[in-house]
Amino acid sequence: MDINRHPAAPVIAIDGPSASGKGTVASRVAAELGFHSLESGALYRLVALAAQRRKIAEDDESQLAQIAATLDVCFQGGDVYLENQQVGSFLREEECGRRASSIAKLPDVRAALLERQRGFRIPPGLVADGRDMGTVVFPDAVLKVFLTASVAARAQRRYKQLKEKGFDASLAALSRDLEARDAQDANRSVAPLKPAHDAKELDSTDLSIEEVVARIVAWWREREVTIN
Ligand code: DC
Repeated sequence: MDINRHPAAPVIAIDGPSASGKGTVASRVAAELGFHSLESGALYRLVALAAQRRKIAEDDESQLAQIAATLDVCFQGGDVYLENQQVGSFLREEECGRRASSIAKLPDVRAALLERQRGFRIPPGLVADGRDMGTVVFPDAVLKVFLTASVAARAQRRYKQLKEKGFDASLAALSRDLEARDAQDANRSVAPLKPAHDAKELDSTDLSIEEVVARIVAWWREREVTIN
């Protein structure tokens, strides 16, 4: 699909490291504006999960790219289905995130997911979150936000989330995992995690979700005035 297939559908790109709150923020901004949303990390997690189930090695680029290209996935009612099976809770597991980060280094996997991600760009607009939404997937996004928070704040948020869901978790182990994921995502050669040159950086360490959402919606309204 051509990137300009929906030139009328504006994109808000929200990129940032793991557990910076991108997913929650993106879906709330989308709800507020009546836009569609894309959590691109879920696609990488789905490839990782499908590969794990088929016992495909994390470095088998051609098989992983094949899975990415043919992924039978459906996002419905806030849940995700892989081959008609509900998999939302599996996707949130830390091990799935680690595997997703590992396979996301592979250029053929990224290439196989590119058009699928662009396919989410439909009117009236899209809020997309991930690592390379503003740099690679939607370089013409109208608004690009790079959302960060300190490692300590992100580990604390993830710890709270996991505990609330009844999972066992250690704050120290979560901090270590986040740092390792950040390093892996930022140091890969293809589409590394980094702010787009025209992104607005937002540090959410001391902000609530509501404050972050309000800031992004305000930026969007300013852009809207400029566009119209
Ligand atoms: O956002 P997340 O934590 O669910 O993403 C899981 C992994 O997927 C992340 O560590 C790196 C990879 N990813 C990516 O490389 N590019 C994206 N746009 C989104 C996720």
